[in-house]
Amino acid sequence: MSATAAGKLDINVSETQLLADLERLGRIGLGADGGITRRALSNEDAEARSYVAERMRAAGLDVRHDEVGNLRARRPARDGATWNTRSNVVMTGSHLDSVPSGGKLDGPLGVVGAVCAVEALNAAGVQTERPIELVVFVGEEGSRFKRGTIGSAALSGHVAVADVLALVDPDGVIYRNAMATYGDSGAAIPARVERGSVHAFVELHVEQGGVLESSGTDIGAVTTIAGLVQHMVTFHGDANHAGATPMHLRRDALLAAAQWALGIERAAREVGGGAVGTVGKLTVEPGGKNIIPGRVDAICDLRAPTPELLTALAGFVISSLHGIGEQRGVEIEQQLLQRVEPGPMHELAIAAVERAAAAAGLSSLRMPSGAIHDALHVAEVAPASMIFVPSIGGKSHCPTEATQPRDLVRGVDVLARTLAILANE
Ligand code: GLV
Ligand code: MN
Ligand code: MN
Repeated sequence: MSATAAGKLDINVSETQLLADLERLGRIGLGADGGITRRALSNEDAEARSYVAERMRAAGLDVRHDEVGNLRARRPARDGATWNTRSNVVMTGSHLDSVPSGGKLDGPLGVVGAVCAVEALNAAGVQTERPIELVVFVGEEGSRFKRGTIGSAALSGHVAVADVLALVDPDGVIYRNAMATYGDSGAAIPARVERGSVHAFVELHVEQGGVLESSGTDIGAVTTIAGLVQHMVTFHGDANHAGATPMHLRRDALLAAAQWALGIERAAREVGGGAVGTVGKLTVEPGGKNIIPGRVDAICDLRAPTPELLTALAGFVISSLHGIGEQRGVEIEQQLLQRVEPGPMHELAIAAVERAAAAAGLSSLRMPSGAIHDALHVAEVAPASMIFVPSIGGKSHCPTEATQPRDLVRGVDVLARTLAILANE
């Protein structure tokens, strides 16, 4: 098949299968509020992963796992080669872990969507010159260990495998031991891929914002992914009686944290250019309604589309701590949890997404991603881009995250065509 013949492909994505897969995964880790909680390497994550592994096998894929627990599955090239191939591979994939009480699509769409895309290629009799690899990356969301995008950072070599295996969660559980929940048997393949061994990578994902919906566009072709800085900050004040302690004799840790959080809002607006800042996690101790807060642990999440803007925002956020500590008589400690540089996607992959959308008769828009994705790390070693589909109301990282079924199917259709283009050019 030539690249231009991609338009003539007879791709028929099974909407029934796609929705059934998403519905099945959407029951694993489902909470009373309708949100999904699947922490990396938890029983829920393992259950979702084994469902996907079965689906991969049913689609005719050769399923393996790597040293950090990424699930890796290959569809053979025309010559029958899967793993022992001399041609480089085309990759796609996403994650199955979630934020606390998140949505059903962030991650799973790019995973079961990839399986459904392969099934559509199989049904259309499409053969490719290069093998196609599906990856389920471990721990993208960073909800359990100190950092996120764990599986893709190991795959690109951004983080050493030994450092991943030594990560420790807040309960003291070591990553290496937590991997036992996956119950993998047999030898693991290397996590790391060499630069040049992956022809291209493309990740299907919900947009998580409102650009496609508000502009009436079917598909987003992602051009850049914003970077991220997260710090853990601890404010040490003085726990004391809420009635008996006059205002001027207090060292209230929560007021110091609140002042800091308001400063982050101001700084993000001042830095501008798409910079955003959030304090989404606060732990207040001792946490009694009649006790002045003695200690607060807070995590800030700062994002920006360029390294310069990210550095400017992070610089302000950390330098503001000194003055707040002095003013409120509160001791402050801070620790950098992670910094992920913003990164451009690659023209080879962006253009393939656009061509695939056009071949499917859909409109597309080049756009940046404000959210982090595994594609950012894969882009360190291979040309990468992403396929976005519209998010209803631009909602994500919450139980109301949703996309019209028609748009989910369109995303998988474009993924199948993109894979065919990239695996045959
Ligand atoms: C991942 O979804 C992130 O952007 O935090
Ligand atoms: Mn997410
Ligand atoms: Mn995601």
